[in-house]
Amino acid sequence: MITVWSDISELATLSGATKKDGRNLLPDDLGLISDAAIAFDQDKILWQGKSSSLPQQYQHSAVSLKDHVVTPEIVDSHTHLVFAGNRADEYKMRLDGADYQVIAASGGGILSTMNATKDADEEELFQQAKARIERIHSYGVGTIEIKSGYALTLEGERKLSQVIARLKSHFSPRVRIMNTFMAAHAVPKNFKSSKDYIETIVLPLLKELASKGIIDAVDIFHENGYFSFDDVEKTFTLAQDLGIAVKIHADEFGDNGGAALAVKHNALSADHLLCTGDKGIAALANSKTVCTLLPGTGYFLGKPQARARKLLDAGAKVAIASDFNPGSCHVDNILLLASLAAPNYKMNSAELWAAITINARDALGLDASPRFSIFKANSISEITYSWGRNFSVSLT
Ligand code: NIG
Ligand code: FE
Repeated sequence: MITVWSDISELATLSGATKKDGRNLLPDDLGLISDAAIAFDQDKILWQGKSSSLPQQYQHSAVSLKDHVVTPEIVDSHTHLVFAGNRADEYKMRLDGADYQVIAASGGGILSTMNATKDADEEELFQQAKARIERIHSYGVGTIEIKSGYALTLEGERKLSQVIARLKSHFSPRVRIMNTFMAAHAVPKNFKSSKDYIETIVLPLLKELASKGIIDAVDIFHENGYFSFDDVEKTFTLAQDLGIAVKIHADEFGDNGGAALAVKHNALSADHLLCTGDKGIAALANSKTVCTLLPGTGYFLGKPQARARKLLDAGAKVAIASDFNPGSCHVDNILLLASLAAPNYKMNSAELWAAITINARDALGLDASPRFSIFKANSISEITYSWGRNFSVSLT
């Protein structure tokens, strides 16, 4: 079926950005067209340009999008949105002087969400996550990646991956969900080491779920006190044997060589990168691995931000995602976060929009089928200029 939209106030084609593989972008790479029209089918864009030049064959089926902006679909490529309970108390503790890792070591952090999540009823987890997805979608986000990782037992993690699979079929095709297996999120206290946990829970469950065909990617928290270089090697080697793409939480609290490790394994993305040093940046710059920055986490934890400009200038492919989770970033609005972060990251407008659209899509290994976000506004600038205001509209 062919869809045709005309009279679009502003269409951001990102044509230059697409040609340049999302790197070394200049403002013109946004490919803005005012008073635009577009015709597309399921697989590709058939025509785009000025509304006044819309070929006759498309004119009769055109729907007017006067006073609307159209962009490539907004993608949130990093969330942990299946969890129970909340950690509002930790936000207060941090304001009052405690540090994320200190709170985690004293029984808070991921392990406290684990206690709330592992016994939660599957239906309750599904319903809560469903409401969160509806809210995120209401901002104009059309694809959402979701990581498991708040149960940390064999049965619990199986349950979380199945909840994500159920969410995926529930929301398809309106919202595209990507199911990332992240049982390697933290080590519960009853395991003697991270190695023990990886061998007992992560690897066997990964094999089992991969054989059921419900996993799109594998992620791991590579960090002091969480998972080591060897743990990553083992997990990624198995994932690759199973033909599943890998991603990594890298260099969040220290420069642990996570960036280079990501590149070595041809990871789809290396995420966080708050502490990545020059060597890591150089490795990422020359790779296909997308650098996924999560500005909300730095703001929420009061940590310094990733060195975005260094990465961009080095030629790296940069995405922005929310990291929505109960502990380190309880903000789910990627447009708010990206608009807030861009002036600090010193990103130009093309870098900002590529970061939440085409580069975020590549961070999930998705193809470029035509999917769009639509906003009631006259220019894309209005959207990022008004932090936290929701301009998204849905046509159905
Ligand atoms: O991406 N870094 C690991 N995982 C999350 C934090 C999860 C939590 O604190 O619950 C993150 O920041
Ligand atoms: Fe995360």
